[in-house]
Amino acid sequence: MSVLDRFRLDGKVAVLTGASSGLGVGFARGLAEAGADLALGARRTDRLAATAALVEKEGRRAVCVGTDVADPAACQRLVDEAMTTFGRVDILVNNAGLGWAAPATRETPEQFRSVIDVNLNGCYWMAQAAGRVMQPGSSIVNISSVLGLKSGGLPQAAYSASKAGLIGLTRDLAQQWTARRGIRVNALAPGFFRTEMTDLYQPGYVEERESRILAGRFGEVEELTAALVFLASDAGSYVTGQTLVVDGGITVI
Ligand SMILES: NC(=O)c1ccc[n+]([C@@H]2O[C@H](COP(=O)([O-])OP(=O)(O)OC[C@H]3O[C@@H](n4cnc5c(N)ncnc54)[C@H](OP(=O)(O)O)[C@@H]3O)[C@@H](O)[C@H]2O)c1
Repeated sequence: MSVLDRFRLDGKVAVLTGASSGLGVGFARGLAEAGADLALGARRTDRLAATAALVEKEGRRAVCVGTDVADPAACQRLVDEAMTTFGRVDILVNNAGLGWAAPATRETPEQFRSVIDVNLNGCYWMAQAAGRVMQPGSSIVNISSVLGLKSGGLPQAAYSASKAGLIGLTRDLAQQWTARRGIRVNALAPGFFRTEMTDLYQPGYVEERESRILAGRFGEVEELTAALVFLASDAGSYVTGQTLVVDGGITVI
């Protein structure tokens, strides 16, 4: 098999959460371009249909499932639907996420819990459901963040804790499943990519962050998708339990 062939996902099935906007849309297109069929999950089903159209344009099949990842039963339904439609799950991309800045003295328990429920707990419910049906050779990729490694200079306790927790979850699932089940589990820690999430930042913050990035700019979703396909495919067959930082060098300084 050639080196480039190792990146192909022909005949594989990927379950992708957070497929209704931002990075998830780019991930869906990239995974389909590499050859995978996709089960797409998010709450906004109208927007999932638009993502499915992009997958179909690449000649692959897509099924859309309205999914709130904070609900374990909904996570199970997404995986069940993938199994019913395609008969297998080879890749899980835990991409659904949310977050905002809230000073620790004012953040309510409900606000804090709602971020942890989606960004950390939701990834675990999805991994449990997928892990039960995945065969040896499968791959899970959790979308963490550089804010799980380093402060972004804003009050983001819930978001940072959830993304740091996800790195721990990645390590533990890898040690549970890689040797025993042949399932690799890795995380991506993206730096800054323009999406609806970064649109929430106060004026000035984005420019200030950009000035700290060694590459001198925000990332393009295709640059992150390339790293995702590496971890999801046989190209990454000897990589497990790791967190791959894709940030233009912002964590270096
Ligand atoms: N953009 C960046 O610079 C950056 C950097 C580091 C990490 N990340 C991470 O990348 C991932 C994608 O973020 P993004 O930047 O693409 O933001 P985005 O455009 O806001 O997308 C977030 C996605 O998560 C989904 N989502 C949110 N809550 C959900 C829930 N309860 N159940 C199911 N889906 C849910 C949203 O879909 P619905 O609203 O339709 O449910 C949407 O598809 C997140 O995990 C984020 O933390 C982003």
